[in-house]
Amino acid sequence: MTIAALLSLAPWALFAGVSGALAGFNPLHHSGPASPYFDAPAQFGILSTTPVQCSVDQAAYLVRHGSRFPEPGSFAGWQSLFAKLQNATYNAKGPLSFLPSWTPPIDDIPHDPLFLSSTGSREAFDLGVELRKRYRLTRGGDNFTVWSAGQQRVVDTATYFTLGYLSQGNYISAPGENRGHVITMPDSVNYTFADSLTPSAGCPAYSSGDTSFKATTFRGTYQSTIANRLNKYLDGLTLNATDIGVMQDLCGFQAEVNGDTRFCDIFTESEWLDYEYAHDLNYYYGSGPGNPFSATTGYPWVKAITELFVTGPNDATESSGSNFVPPPLIMSFTHDNNLPPAVSALGLWNTSELSGVYPLSAKSPNRRRTFRSSYLVSFRGYVALERLSCDEHDPPTSVKHIANQPILGPGASVNAQKYVRIRINNAVVPVPGCASGPGSSCPLASFAAYIKKRAAVAGDFVKTCGLQDVKNATNTLDIFTTFPSDAAQTSMLLVPLPYASAP
Ligand SMILES: *[C@@H]1O[C@H](CO)[C@@H](O)[C@H](O)[C@H]1NC(C)=O
Ligand SMILES: *[C@@H]1O[C@H](CO)[C@@H](O)[C@H](O)[C@H]1NC(C)=O
Ligand SMILES: *[C@@H]1O[C@H](CO)[C@@H](O)[C@H](O)[C@H]1NC(C)=O
Ligand SMILES: *[C@@H]1O[C@H](CO)[C@@H](O)[C@H](O)[C@H]1NC(C)=O
Ligand SMILES: *[C@@H]1O[C@H](CO)[C@@H](O)[C@H](O)[C@H]1NC(C)=O
Ligand SMILES: *[C@@H]1O[C@H](CO)[C@@H](O)[C@H](O)[C@H]1NC(C)=O
Repeated sequence: MTIAALLSLAPWALFAGVSGALAGFNPLHHSGPASPYFDAPAQFGILSTTPVQCSVDQAAYLVRHGSRFPEPGSFAGWQSLFAKLQNATYNAKGPLSFLPSWTPPIDDIPHDPLFLSSTGSREAFDLGVELRKRYRLTRGGDNFTVWSAGQQRVVDTATYFTLGYLSQGNYISAPGENRGHVITMPDSVNYTFADSLTPSAGCPAYSSGDTSFKATTFRGTYQSTIANRLNKYLDGLTLNATDIGVMQDLCGFQAEVNGDTRFCDIFTESEWLDYEYAHDLNYYYGSGPGNPFSATTGYPWVKAITELFVTGPNDATESSGSNFVPPPLIMSFTHDNNLPPAVSALGLWNTSELSGVYPLSAKSPNRRRTFRSSYLVSFRGYVALERLSCDEHDPPTSVKHIANQPILGPGASVNAQKYVRIRINNAVVPVPGCASGPGSSCPLASFAAYIKKRAAVAGDFVKTCGLQDVKNATNTLDIFTTFPSDAAQTSMLLVPLPYASAP
């Protein structure tokens, strides 16, 4: 959601821009995993539109679920803050004068915490609309299948995506002619190993590589200072580090739940950058390149997609057990912690060419880092791979049309060459050492060779995770070409459900 959209929703947000304290700086773009979706800036200066001499003929997305209500643990934190603000006699002034009348934005406790907010549902539907328009890879009325980890908010995101993707045409009363399927699998279990969209839970070694405590330590360096600054606006009540943590989370969460951005306005730009950096450390060292088992768990998805790109769209695959041809747009829905492993497997945002940047400092943010949690694990964040089919040159500026002789569009000739681009939250991120193609893309054959080399960094899932003696353990993600997959324990849902008449 843009600030403009928020302004149209929330009257109090009007004052945010006017006060000038945060002019030109948007805390919702620096709230890490609590940021509602926004397009990340082009950190490498590459346009995200498809280059004019190319078309995308195949694409794969790994998507975090949409904006949601808090987890029960964080919700308890909101309730404690509310109790603290209510159960005291105090004076609040200036930027904090809204605290005595603030109430947590939850009005349906059994159905809110854990689940999508309506902003999250809209983000998912919007992505369906956006990708239908961006690629036109399937016809209206086609049978379309997506894949999803099994937790409700993830399946709901996959479902709203599919509804958005299928929302063209006059099919609302004929859903059977414009059908979607969501293939689901158990979420965060330890018995499906690499054959999962939540594979880190199936890698026993993974937690031993998680050093995200560095984020907690870093929070300890700034939260009390913020509390001391804000306590000057309170007489009779003292905020502490815990309260600051909750109040900074409430900026992003409340913005997406009900449009209230008042918590966004009480912190300074440098306080937001510290908050964001704590999230960066959490993901870099917890599930990203700073965890030695991160690439191991991200690699099976990257390998499966690379193999499908090498085969090309709409071709039956021949590996043993395969019986399913995925659509040219291959959608996978999962959780925040399953995106950084894909970044690690792809070898992104962790270059040794920038000296002193990686591994990230546990003490202070380096402005030259490209690893930013806000640009990856925002709500409905994604890692996308696109296969491009490109002509050698830009389309000519003058074209002669001969009656009844159709002219092929960009990338459609038999001589067109294939390339790959990576887009993370819309922004193009070049493949390290391979950006010679149109729009800084990487030739498909070179990309496949690069991914093969990354196997050495990732290590074999079964061996590296310590699963040699586990009978069913697998290092392969087969869900895109096998249905049902016994190893992944997949099942299928219909979207939308057939309409029923009211009795
Ligand atoms: C409210 O304040 C009183 C007195 O300080 C304290 O004993 C009680 O535990 C507080 N209740 C809550 C819900 O915080
Ligand atoms: C639609 O796709 C599902 C799997 O995604 C498959 O089981 C079903 O047979 C397909 N239906 C048609 C009419 O092709
Ligand atoms: C999966 O978790 C269960 C319960 O914690 C445990 O007993 C089992 O050993 C684990 N399996 C693997 C392969 O780690
Ligand atoms: C902050 O205060 C709350 C009660 O007001 C308390 O539960 C919490 O433990 C305190 N946190 C710290 C870090 O002192
Ligand atoms: C990230 O960079 C660090 C420092 O160079 C290195 O130790 C680590 O292996 C890299 N991680 C990945 C997944 O490439
Ligand atoms: C191995 O897989 C089979 C079939 O999915 C299952 O019935 C069995 O319980 C699994 N064994 C172990 C040790 O997980």
